[in-house]
Amino acid sequence: MSSEPTTGTTPAPRRGDPLPHDLLDYAERLSGEQLAELQLDRLRATLRHAYDNVELYRKKFDAAGVTPDDCRSLADLSRFPFTTKADLRDTYPFGTFAVPMSQVRRVHASSGTTGRATVVGYTDDDLSMWADVVARSIRAAGGRSGHKVHISYGYGLFTGGLGAHYGAERAGCTVIPASGGMTARQVQIIQDFRPEIIMVTPSYMLTLLDEFERQGVDPRTTSLQVGIFGAEPWTEEMRREIEERMDIHAVDIYGLSEVIGPGVAQECVETKDGLHVWEDHFYPEVVDPLTDAVLAEGEEGEIVFTSLTKEALPVIRYRTRDLSRLLPGTARPAFRRMQKVTGRCDDMIILRGVNVFPTQIEEIVLRTPGVAPHFQIRLTERGRMDHMTVRVEARPDAGPEQREDAARTIGQGVKDGVGVTVDVEIVEPETLERSLGKIRRVSDLRGT
Ligand code: DLL
Repeated sequence: MSSEPTTGTTPAPRRGDPLPHDLLDYAERLSGEQLAELQLDRLRATLRHAYDNVELYRKKFDAAGVTPDDCRSLADLSRFPFTTKADLRDTYPFGTFAVPMSQVRRVHASSGTTGRATVVGYTDDDLSMWADVVARSIRAAGGRSGHKVHISYGYGLFTGGLGAHYGAERAGCTVIPASGGMTARQVQIIQDFRPEIIMVTPSYMLTLLDEFERQGVDPRTTSLQVGIFGAEPWTEEMRREIEERMDIHAVDIYGLSEVIGPGVAQECVETKDGLHVWEDHFYPEVVDPLTDAVLAEGEEGEIVFTSLTKEALPVIRYRTRDLSRLLPGTARPAFRRMQKVTGRCDDMIILRGVNVFPTQIEEIVLRTPGVAPHFQIRLTERGRMDHMTVRVEARPDAGPEQREDAARTIGQGVKDGVGVTVDVEIVEPETLERSLGKIRRVSDLRGT
């Protein structure tokens, strides 16, 4: 990583540089006690707002025998019922909105893998809060007023594009609203417009990187200094791959449409040690996905969020299905961190009794010489047993021997590290489908 960024109006900070104090906003300067006090006030107001205005919550609270007044401390939240994606889907499209439609200024939707979309809504104040948390995220990533931000998250019903867009504007940046797709053109625009920041899924970043190389441009020579990557799980190995190939800082942004969109939590560039949850707006808990018990700090489980300030769509104990753990704050001491998401409960593959996450395969593939960072997991049936094949692209310069070595190394790595036997198929360069947004790693051919 170059230590002295030379482009841009304001250089991005180097690793280790704390954010100048005058760039922290009000909530980022609170002490832990002040934050807790603010959270409790906001939580009580949210529970009341949800109970009074949304039939779903009224019924759920009544069935659980709780009322908003039963929440006297943050710990009391655990007495309230969870909300799931199915709850929101059952009230499709607008049944969970807590304000009249005339106050809903925008809707987004997440497609999900099955069934109906989940529709989410925002009032004027919700949109403003969202822009604030994304702006805060961009600053934490090293973005500054005067920077140009190239946004390749998709624009549309997906929250990525527009969420990043208004946040970058709020941060005082110049937005380049590229959206997803037209990869060759994006590379041209990056060279011509010279942005300092890119916001994109890590898998689409890899697609862009390959395109730079195809066009004969060394990605390390671009104006980019920071990449803000999210919307899908990615590993430390992927961070290293992108940082080295592009000579940028790669930091993680997390969010989900039901909770707001991007900007629920953000990794700080000076520490790169997990994502600070913007807890003044989104209260996190981690629960055991099987027993529903609230877990202590440091224990891994499903992350659950309660919105603290949302008007149009308050969410109470929303089950994200994402696996992570909560850790104490570092770069922003009052806010807890969530560890990089390992994967979704739904993405977990159970192969002959062993739990496997695509991120575990990613780690192994990305540290193996001779192969590109492009891989796919194929599930099939052999007799009555499930079988996994990891298909990985060879690097163009890898000869037959190196390919064989790579296949052996990956197979052994999965056996030793994950505990399952898989087939590894090394395929020709440029043959696996490329991501244009969120990548789909697993192709499940069982039962077909
Ligand atoms: O993906 C919002 C977003 C857009 C976040 C752009 C970051 C950047 P949904 O389409 O509702 O919203 O999908 C939410 O994506 O529950 C996670 O499973 C996954 N996800 C999002 N960010 C991360 C991340 C957007 N940083 C779902 N790491 C979430 C791992 C992530 N998974």
